[in-house]
Amino acid sequence: MRRVVCPGSFDPVTNGHIDIIGRASGLYDEVVVAVLINITKKSLFTVDERVQMLSEVTASYGNVRVERFHGLLVDFCAANGISAVVKGLRAVSDFEYEMQMAQMNYRLAKIETLFMTSNPLYSFLSSSLIKEIAKYGGDVSGLVPEVVRAELQVRLNELE
Ligand code: PNS
Repeated sequence: MRRVVCPGSFDPVTNGHIDIIGRASGLYDEVVVAVLINITKKSLFTVDERVQMLSEVTASYGNVRVERFHGLLVDFCAANGISAVVKGLRAVSDFEYEMQMAQMNYRLAKIETLFMTSNPLYSFLSSSLIKEIAKYGGDVSGLVPEVVRAELQVRLNELE
């Protein structure tokens, strides 16, 4: 089975992420979306909440499953029979860091990284910007799934 991992923080998932996941699902037998458990990084949503939202918005793809991981991505790949990572590239500014990680993952465990150029409709999108826009009352509809828009509203109201 050809299986690929789409790793990230997904705090929260955006339409840009979904575009990459959906396109990868057409190329591979199975796409594993892996949410990083990072206790040192402050997040708006818990890992459980991020996994729940991702599961909901990828449910229509029969070959996508959502998992969580901590530690090295290459160890997660080894434990799950995965030999390739798929990443979206929004702009040249993404490339430098992504290339460094790709080369390190290959050096560590011969894990390949495939870059997919993001849909231009979403190339300006990031989870951090979405959180900032939502925090100050901006409209994020069309940029994140409806369930994420609603959850952002709830969480930001709780924090007020
Ligand atoms: O959405 P993000 O935060 O940009 O995703 C970054 C992620 C999770 C892909 C990256 O930080 C990662 O793979 N972390 C796991 C730890 C690891 O393997 N580090 C070495 C990378 S070469």
